[in-house]
Amino acid sequence: MSERKVINVSTKEAQRQNEIINILAQHISGKGLQYCISTFGCQMNARDSEKIEGMLEQIGYTKTENEEEADFIIYNTCCVRENAELKIYGRLGALKGRRKKNPNFMIALCGCMMQQDIVLDTLKKKFNFIDIIFGTYNIYKLPELLQTRLETKQNVIDIWDSYQDIVEDLPDSRKYDFKACVNIMYGCNNFCTYCIVPYVRGRERSRKPEDIVTEIKALVSEGVKEIMLLGQNVNSYGKTLDEPISFAELLKQINAIEGLKRIRFMTSHPKDLSDELIEVMASCDKICPSVHLPFQSGSTKLLKKMNRHYTKESYLELVRKIKAAIPRVELTTDIIVGFPGETEEDFLDTMEVVEKVHYASAFTFIYSKRTGTPAATMEDQVPEDVTKERFNRLLALVNKQSAATLHKYVGQTVEVLFEEVSKQDDNVLSGRTDTGLLVNTPAPKEYVGKFVKVHIVDNKTHYLIGELAR
Ligand code: SAH
Ligand code: SF4
Ligand code: F3S
Repeated sequence: MSERKVINVSTKEAQRQNEIINILAQHISGKGLQYCISTFGCQMNARDSEKIEGMLEQIGYTKTENEEEADFIIYNTCCVRENAELKIYGRLGALKGRRKKNPNFMIALCGCMMQQDIVLDTLKKKFNFIDIIFGTYNIYKLPELLQTRLETKQNVIDIWDSYQDIVEDLPDSRKYDFKACVNIMYGCNNFCTYCIVPYVRGRERSRKPEDIVTEIKALVSEGVKEIMLLGQNVNSYGKTLDEPISFAELLKQINAIEGLKRIRFMTSHPKDLSDELIEVMASCDKICPSVHLPFQSGSTKLLKKMNRHYTKESYLELVRKIKAAIPRVELTTDIIVGFPGETEEDFLDTMEVVEKVHYASAFTFIYSKRTGTPAATMEDQVPEDVTKERFNRLLALVNKQSAATLHKYVGQTVEVLFEEVSKQDDNVLSGRTDTGLLVNTPAPKEYVGKFVKVHIVDNKTHYLIGELAR
């Protein structure tokens, strides 16, 4: 019964927004109005931005990368660390007064930061010129919010406390035509004590496997060869569905899709990475031998305080099992330095994990206090200078290991999916191996979106340098 209701409500909602899109299009198409969207934070936000772009383009806005010439500026915000928020306030300050020059000018803010009361208060007090503010649960309502703003000429704020339905079937604009991100679940139930995400993205909810498979089949029929499955903790996918299914099962179904070449996913929480998943990864040809496996800290004491539900030893054992089952696998990770109570000994545990695992790359973060999370009120916050010094030591080790991992590839021939022209050099294409490594190679632009054999001739700290194999 409940399943039926969800389908009906979300379909009706999508229809309603699509109707509003058509009405708005009559007013906006042909006026030459341009939008510019800036996306902060993780892949979740990047994917949400593609949906926002799809709706705006259907309404009749065209995209520009140049904020100066845009009539509609959208910031899709992140609040995972304080500096992500400070960036937004800085950018907003610079936009004040733009409407005087352009009567069509509008600003919209959305994303994770908007889900915090403290942010809304600041915006109301200091930045009362924002036209539309919405959150993470009602992105699909943008057409309606835009309509309300245009009709009432009042600023619109619409923030929900939790999600209602997963609304499918709205316009969508994808950044690449050969690779795509696909949400398999939203939200997070883990409440790691430092992390704001569960508060701004809500409880975990999985999309139905048939909706995911249908979406991927449609993407493949349009030319997509590589997909990235997105979730804050993909390993707990499907547990709360009316008909529960494991992530490994879902992967098997996706692996069977004809024409698809590569399957990636992120993020894997170590506590939920099952033996079944390792087996499926080892046996399914399309699943890339690469795992993003954040460990955050090597100290079992801190992992407990972080509410991560694994120990240094169990993490290392998990890594051992993955490497044994998938010999070519490359691992990447996230690490936090300076979590409350971190001693030199705790930090050395973190260094030890990095030494032992040999990551292809690691995202290293200085702990950032997030109001409302349990860690924010923990005693023993680590002084900034101590954290900085540890961070630098960690970064040096991580970089040394990245370079060493990449160096192993020199002399090998690998298959690369070229993604784009390098930002540094017009004659060079950037792409990735199935193991997730970045490769820069002089190659013609027509190779973008193609799988090509590349001979690796050199490496830098963060990428490989190749030549087209003959
Ligand atoms: N769901 C993913 C991570 C999402 S947030 C997971 O559990 O692995 C991405 C990364 O940001 C986290 O892995 C963590 O390393 C970092 N992060 C989250 N909150 C943080 C904070 N308050 N300070 C510093 N880094 C943080
Ligand atoms: Fe944050 Fe933890 Fe959820 Fe990842 S698993 S989003 S770090 S609470
Ligand atoms: Fe940031 Fe939200 Fe992602 S807080 S990291 S954009 S889920």
